[in-house]
Amino acid sequence: KNIVILISGVGSNMEAIARACETERWPARIAAVISNRAEAGGLATAAARGIPVAVLSHRDHATREAFDAALADLIDGYAPDLVVLAGFMRILTPGFVERYAGRMINIHPSLLPGFPGLHTHARALEAGVKVHGASVHFVTPELDHGPIVIQGALDVLPSDTEESLAGRVLALEHRIYPRAVRWAIEDRLQVVAGVVQVTPPEP
Ligand code: GRF
Repeated sequence: KNIVILISGVGSNMEAIARACETERWPARIAAVISNRAEAGGLATAAARGIPVAVLSHRDHATREAFDAALADLIDGYAPDLVVLAGFMRILTPGFVERYAGRMINIHPSLLPGFPGLHTHARALEAGVKVHGASVHFVTPELDHGPIVIQGALDVLPSDTEESLAGRVLALEHRIYPRAVRWAIEDRLQVVAGVVQVTPPEP
């Protein structure tokens, strides 16, 4: 199975997935890591692991649709079975999302449906929630809204700041995202009435 991972920054989730793919010997490979920002640190991390990398800058495309069309062509060149958004900071057009329906997932740093959108840790602290976390979901045209594959939760500490909370949620992401990707490439995910069911592993 071919996995294509899209990043915009550090790529720590991408790295966690690439490491699990190797150490757990998944029947899959990271076919490419693609970033919309040439300065994304994750590009060097991927290249150091021998993973093909590519950059497609949104600044080189007049419209969102034109960028997404070029991105889809670039992605399809790697014949992806799964497209993984990992810290990819772009809003994708409905046409692009539809093209990868059922085979594109994203990680969001909150317990969806709570706190969709940005600045989730500050908003969680402001709301005084006692439990916070991260969610992996299938990407649908509505932002941060698709069927949830897996979630990780942690206690919000009285001492937590936005930074401390973000750090602990990120560590949680590094545990749940590789698991979600493995389930996907093992074809163990079914969406029934908008709810993801994970089938048991093959005996
Ligand atoms: C982090 O804020 C993470 O919570 C979110 O994307 C951002 C960058 O993650 N999923 P990464 O280190 O680029 O994977």
